[in-house]
Amino acid sequence: MTAGILGLGHYVPERIMTNKDLEKIVETSDEWIQSRTGIETRHIASENEETSDLAYEASVRALSDAGIDGEALDLILVATITGDMAFPSVACQLQKRLGATKAAAMDVGAACAGFMYGMITAAQFIENGGYEKVLVVGAEKLSKITDWTDRNTCVLFGDGAGACVMGQVAEGYGIKSFELGADGTGDTALYQENELIRMNGREVFKFAVRQMPESSENVVLKAGLTKDDVDFLVPHQANVRIMEAARTRLDIPKEKMAYSINKYGNTSAASIPIALSEEVQNNKITSGDNVVLVGFGGGLTWGAVLLTYGRGD
Ligand code: ACO
Repeated sequence: MTAGILGLGHYVPERIMTNKDLEKIVETSDEWIQSRTGIETRHIASENEETSDLAYEASVRALSDAGIDGEALDLILVATITGDMAFPSVACQLQKRLGATKAAAMDVGAACAGFMYGMITAAQFIENGGYEKVLVVGAEKLSKITDWTDRNTCVLFGDGAGACVMGQVAEGYGIKSFELGADGTGDTALYQENELIRMNGREVFKFAVRQMPESSENVVLKAGLTKDDVDFLVPHQANVRIMEAARTRLDIPKEKMAYSINKYGNTSAASIPIALSEEVQNNKITSGDNVVLVGFGGGLTWGAVLLTYGRGD
């Protein structure tokens, strides 16, 4: 049995914050932000819009795309570092709202790599026959843990959610290889202190430009493929220069890499599923395409997957 994607959906809050808006809050400039990160705008949730609300909107779309109801789900995994509260988990809140009465539910904490951890965990349950349908969501309201007085970080982040229904797919489709990793010694590069994000940008940058290309290449080799077989790259949208490092290593043309950091900024665990959902919606990724998904995050953590997109039915 091979696990693959049955449906996708994403959602971002309505309110858009531009770089010009940020110029009024901290000492920065549109030119600095665009040239160092690629970010032009980000979406920010309203005060009464919580992470579970974003997750719910994305999940409804993914279930509809998969053609199933919440009742069909066996497991819900939500990757987030910004749950509404410590408990109940966002996954349990979703279980209730989606009417997923038979689903087990838990949150996954691996920061920006959380969606990769969730997706690979889901695949194990599906491939060993334990569960048939798993909803994997990446959802973040980073704006509530952003230090709006720190120009080193506040220009980078945005809110949003992406969701993916996973299940068994036909032979030749689905996940062909994966890689997961962690390095707890990097715990001072990116962490939370007094509720707020703290980051050593240069340390994270150095780690990410090494890890993203390496993991991308590893999953291609593990799948028994070559770079030429890769049709599309969906990297974590953290910084365009980091994304470019992965793209260059795989020799992929610009138009074959998901690029939404300009609109949404870094939405942490939500960035990969949002980007994937958009590229599929826009027919840039179609059935039979070999796609590399790759992410990294605080922990430090990382994860990558090579999958052949589509259900094959
Ligand atoms: N506007 C203007 N100037 C700024 C800003 C800003 N918003 N932020 C920092 N600067 C200044 C710095 O203070 C520094 O000034 P100094 O030299 O006088 O000290 C100068 O710009 C250059 O700083 P650098 O750190 O060298 O800038 P760099 O080119 O490395 O870009 C950045 C900084 C964008 C943060 C980069 O290091 C990066 O992207 N790092 C990775 C961050 C990342 O991906 N984080 C998310 C991880 S995922 C997760 O788990 C949430």
